[in-house]
Formats: sequence, structure tokens, C-alpha cells
Amino acid sequence: VGDELCSQLAVLREQAPIYFFTPGGFWIVTGYDECRAVLSADAAEIAYSKRMDRRSPDWRNHTATVHLSQWFGHWDGEAHRAIRKLLGQYFNPRAVDKLAPDVESLIPDVVADFKSSGGGHFREEVAFRVTARITSFLLGVPEGDYDRLIPQIHGVMSGFEFGLTDEQWSFADDSASAMRDYWRTEVRKRTANPCGTDLISELVRRQLFDQEQTAIIAENLLGASFETTASSSTIAMYALLRHPNQLARARESEAARAAIPDEVLRMYPTAPFVERLGTAPIDVGGVTIPAGAPIVIALAAANRDPRHFDDPERFDLDRAAAGAIPFAQGSRHVCIGMHLARRAITTLFEQMLAQCERIELVEPAPHFTGLGLRMLDRLELRVG
Ligand code: HEM
Repeated sequence: VGDELCSQLAVLREQAPIYFFTPGGFWIVTGYDECRAVLSADAAEIAYSKRMDRRSPDWRNHTATVHLSQWFGHWDGEAHRAIRKLLGQYFNPRAVDKLAPDVESLIPDVVADFKSSGGGHFREEVAFRVTARITSFLLGVPEGDYDRLIPQIHGVMSGFEFGLTDEQWSFADDSASAMRDYWRTEVRKRTANPCGTDLISELVRRQLFDQEQTAIIAENLLGASFETTASSSTIAMYALLRHPNQLARARESEAARAAIPDEVLRMYPTAPFVERLGTAPIDVGGVTIPAGAPIVIALAAANRDPRHFDDPERFDLDRAAAGAIPFAQGSRHVCIGMHLARRAITTLFEQMLAQCERIELVEPAPHFTGLGLRMLDRLELRVG
């Protein structure tokens, strides 16, 4: 299940958990303790522009990367702290508990449709549809807009990938322009009529940001939530099918179902890497990462580190995966939507397993794509 990436990283983790990769000109950190230490270091900043200047010097000529540089997830310092504090109240465990009945109500008929068709393409027909419904509810996006938004989100998120071709850049740039225009229009509509119950209408009502800033926040939230959650749900389904004993376990135990997001993402991460740049030297694991150095933090390797997890290559819903860091960690850039993502994935599997007594993979087996964001290229199922 996409193990080849993890086994390559494992070699690095065993031999040099903090390693300077000369051809790429960056440090790569693969040990669990080392990744946590770097993520917690004050000097490890997002420093998006500085990192991109090193990685892809013409990034300022691309709408896709210019727009990504404006996302609050790519800010540092006080401005970032302030916006996290403000938005955190909508995504903390209490807020997500309050959303739970709505999340639960959005899923059953998507699963029922899938079952009544005898199955089909799980990614498109279940994972995308369920995630679209949840993000629609959260951000007030009309569900019908998703037909055009899904390819655009994919284009926007491809700005996170490495080594894009000219054609891929042009798709990413066009998508980024279209997505920004979409949110500018939506924010204008909400400003004219600010009575929606969604989060973006709430931000408009509170007048904390100007229209452009609100559009960028909305774009950041949609971009960061949609493909990650849909892809994680798809990978989770595949992981369960590849481990039938764990599928059986999930059927019989509520606790095992609740463990699906964390154990799946520990072993099969959707976001295998996050990146930082040291603004001062960082001492970690007996190595000093010098100031100004780009650092790749391999969450994918940290979460299978045998120094931290017993028998880490075993996919086991009964393990206490607590401590895994698939959403990164620390108080600054850790995923703001992780509680919502966990809830969405668990609720989806509650429904899938309750409604479908039989779930089978239709060959050929899917392949993983992407490095910035891992996805399965397809997942066709037969259900009954
Ligand atoms: C399973 C699904 C998800 C995965 C695997 C995931 C993963 C991540 C990771 C690894 C980061 C940290 C990036 C870093 O440290 O550089 C992150 C940040 C972020 N995520 Fe998620 N995410 C998921 C779902 C969501 C959802 C549902 C939302 C919103 C509703 C969301 C919004 C964000 C935002 C806004 C950030 C930037 C936070 C900041 O830097 O302040 N994510 N996500």
C-alpha cells in the first residue's frame, strides 16, 4: 500500500535520521524524535518565499505559487499566531463536537446511493462527494459548484508538487486564478447578504478582514481540507481492503473504527512531508542544521520509526497510535482541521461498514500518485 516510499525513507532513517541531501541542497529529517524536535524549534519557520527562491526560483512568475504564498498556512510570526487564535475557535475539539450531528447527517445517503449501484469509483462517488458536502456545509459552497471546483482544487494543490512540467504549471496557474476569482465573487455575495450560517459568512459579519483577505482565507481552508480528506478516506478504504483482518476488526469495534484515521495516516500519510527553513542554527540529534537551510521533515518516516512505535510496519487499529504526527505537530502550524478530518473519516466508515456487508476491490489495484499530497489514482469497489 504505497510502501515503497516508506521503505526508501526507512533506509535513511536507520543510517542518518538527519541527513544533508547534497544534490537537492536540503536537509531531510526522518527520525521520529528528530522530526518533533525540528517542528518545535523556534528557528524552524515556514519561510515560504525563501524556500521557494531556493527550490523553484521562478515561482514568482506563477499565479499558483504566488497565491500559495498568501495562504495563512504559509505565514510566520505574530500575524500567523493571531489568525490561528482566531480561526482555532471554529476547529477546536469542542467546535467539531458541535458539528458532529451535521457531519453525520451529510453522509448516509451518499453511501446508500453507492450501495444501490452495487459500488463504483469510491474516490469520486463517495470520498469526493462526502468531503464536498462537509466543506460545503462548513464554508457555504453550493454543492453544485463542486463539479468545477474539484479539478480546480487539484490544480491549486499541484502547486505543492515537485518538478511540474510546463503543462502542469499552466493548469496550476489557471486553476489558481479561477479559484481566487470564485472566492472573490463568493465573498462579495456574502458581504451584500451576510446572513449565511457558514464560517465565511461569519467572518464577513465580524468584519475582521477585508474582502480580499477573506477570499484568501476561504481558498486556504478549501484547498487544505478537500483533497487531503478525500484522499485520506480513499487510502483508508484501500488499506482496510488490503488488511481484511483489520476490516473485520473495524466492523466489530467502535474503538477500532475511531482509530482508522490515525492508524491509516500513520502508515499511509496523505501529506508525507512538510518543509521548514532554519532562521538560526538548529541543534538536533547531535547535528547542527545551519541557519538558512531548507529542511524537509519526513512525517512518513517519523510515523514508522521503530524507536517510537512497536512493530511499526504492522497496520493495527488496536495499537495506541497516539503520538503519530500525520498532521505535523506543535502549536504553530499543526493542521487546524485535524479534528474535523478525523471526525469526517470516522463517520464515513461508520456508514460504509453499517450499510455495506460486503466490500470488494475491483482489479486492477490502484497506484499512489503525488509526493506533496499522496492520492490513489482510482479505487473501484463492488459492494452489497
Ligand atoms: C486527513 C486530512 C488532512 C491531512 C492529512 C492534513 C495534513 C496537514 C498537515 C500535515 C499540515 C501541516 C503543514 C505544515 O506543518 O507545514 C496541515 C496544515 C493545515 N491544514 Fe490540514 N490536513 C487535513 C485536513 C484538513 C482540514 C479538514 C482542514 C480544514 C478544515 C485543514 C486545514 C489546514 C490548514 C489551514 C493548515 C495550515 C495550518 C497553519 O499552518 O496554520 N486540513 N494539514
